[in-house]
Amino acid sequence: MPRKTSKSTSQSSIDVLLREERIFRPNAAFRRQASVKDASIYGKAARDPEAFWASCARDLVWLRPWKKVLVWRPPHARWFVGGKLNASVNCLDRHLGTAVRNKAAILWEGEPGEERTLTYAQLFRETCRFANVLKDLGVRKGDRVTLYMPLVPELAIAMLACARIGAAHSVVFGGFSAESLKERINDAKATVLVTADGGFRRGVEVPLKKFADEALRGTPSIRHVVVVRRGNFPVQMTEGRDRFWHDLMRDRSAECPPEPMDSEDMLYILYTSGTTGKPKGIVHATGGYMVGVHTTTRLVFDLKPEDVYWCTADIGWVTGHSYVVYGPLSNGATVLMYEGAPDWPDRGRFWQICDKYRVTIFYTAPTAIRSFMRWGIEWPEKHDLTSLRLLGTVGEPINPEAWVWYRNFVGGGRCPIVDTWWQTETGMIMITPLPGITATKPGSATHPFPGVSAEVLDEKGRVVKDGGGYLAITRPWPAMLQTIYGDPERYATQYWSKWDAKTYFPGDGARRDRQGYFWLLGRVDDVLNVAGHRIGTMEVESALVDHPSVAEAAVVGKAHDLKGQALAAFVTLKEGIVTNGDLVDELKSHVVRKIGALARPDDIVFTAELPKTRSGKIMRRLLKDIAEGRALGDTTTLADPAVIQALKQRYQED
Ligand code: WTA
Repeated sequence: MPRKTSKSTSQSSIDVLLREERIFRPNAAFRRQASVKDASIYGKAARDPEAFWASCARDLVWLRPWKKVLVWRPPHARWFVGGKLNASVNCLDRHLGTAVRNKAAILWEGEPGEERTLTYAQLFRETCRFANVLKDLGVRKGDRVTLYMPLVPELAIAMLACARIGAAHSVVFGGFSAESLKERINDAKATVLVTADGGFRRGVEVPLKKFADEALRGTPSIRHVVVVRRGNFPVQMTEGRDRFWHDLMRDRSAECPPEPMDSEDMLYILYTSGTTGKPKGIVHATGGYMVGVHTTTRLVFDLKPEDVYWCTADIGWVTGHSYVVYGPLSNGATVLMYEGAPDWPDRGRFWQICDKYRVTIFYTAPTAIRSFMRWGIEWPEKHDLTSLRLLGTVGEPINPEAWVWYRNFVGGGRCPIVDTWWQTETGMIMITPLPGITATKPGSATHPFPGVSAEVLDEKGRVVKDGGGYLAITRPWPAMLQTIYGDPERYATQYWSKWDAKTYFPGDGARRDRQGYFWLLGRVDDVLNVAGHRIGTMEVESALVDHPSVAEAAVVGKAHDLKGQALAAFVTLKEGIVTNGDLVDELKSHVVRKIGALARPDDIVFTAELPKTRSGKIMRRLLKDIAEGRALGDTTTLADPAVIQALKQRYQED
């Protein structure tokens, strides 16, 4: 078991860097051509945020104008009240009468190397045809459709088709297990599931339909299943329920009038981990969300008509929703999509793709950058990366070493880097540089986007000017979540009760430096960030306790060089169960079955007892100390101090 304490945790690196105070200003050539050249945008937006967002909203197509920009009854905000629009019209129809019509909307490359290009006109037709398929399957406005697919164009088409007819999509990332899929289908009570025969990951088939079949045994709301043929993988089709995408699309009309949606009508649900065992269905409305993602895509990525834009996230995560589909398409961008792994068939695949398609904007996660760093500069150096002009990161704090490496070896020292902080709940980028004007510091997401108000607050809600505390968003913003699906109370308590009902609590620690820069420090609640993916410790604990041999489990995050954080599980077994190596593997597989491979614990340690306070609360802080090989913190509140000493020894022996 690895016991060394990582020196590259974001916090320690940030400390080091703060002393260095390195600052990178956008170069003159970039500045000259940037969409935002003038920092007065901040002041203007701050003086009248509603006017600012209204001016952004006018850049979209509305079927009926809004009456009021914002109605704010904490903790519920309504944006562009009275307005009507359709997200698919904004991503597709609006471009048809322009030169964008025959421009590539999607450049897709499969992991085995196939290429597909869809122009805006083609994407429009496919979307309308699939919208008609959904209508024929009985899907109506307000219904939910679950999408469990690999990263193929059909996923974007299915999302836009749902949006066209006013159904909400709920995309479940293809890496989730059958159990997770079932839970999400049932929570949303979806009537249709769209999936595929399978997908590719490092040359191996991921049998999505097989997982879906398992889930479908316990999903009474599903009436129809649509199966995309991705790889000619063998599938079992259930008569009367399952149909192939290509069969349903045959001879289908490409005429489908868009459903005029209220600005506040639901666009989608996306499940994400929280502090309880049950994932939260984050609900995004249509109007505010579209305004938020449209504007941030244009300004944060400095998007221009000739760009080739590549966000490497899977569409199954919010980054893919906002910055692969809705944001870039509403701006008429050419979006690159790559289905597979960065190290298949070799570690230069991403750079080979950047070179081949002449990618200009590249947006990825720090965990990927750390892998690239480890693989060495020979991989990016083998390919021509001179087309790149802007780089971005998202998903977790980026350690300054990785930031500087990214700038030098991917960006050739010339590309600005936008480190963008945001969440599934915020829907849009919230804290970020504006690449033409912001002087960046490696490891800092810098400043709130214009029209967004953020502060660092202490426990009592007092503003921290120079130092650490909690990140708080102090004003509503257009792409904000509307609620948690089916659980409005949890929405209020989870996000709007730490200080007062007007202040949003994202669950992140943050620090401000003397110049007012924001430094995001990771989660402060029981949510971990493993390789840029949010995982609730409670979910993993519930999965472990679900195993017949396990009595109790506590899961903590430990620093990990590549993944940022990894999972360490402390498990007590039921009376009479004998521990052995097989059980460790079995429990790891059990978690993978229940949640998915992304939640597989790195370490599992058996213990006769868990360290608890006298009131019976597990002291996770001490478990984290053990997992990270640190000296134990304050142990005075422990009910039985002997437990922790024994456990520490045990962890080191394993
Ligand atoms: C973390 C992903 C530091 C943060 C878009 C947040 C970040 C969680 C950054 C949301 C960043 C995201 N710097 N931390 N630039 N971006 N995070 O919902 O802890 O999957 O709360 O959304 O990721 O993860 P989610």
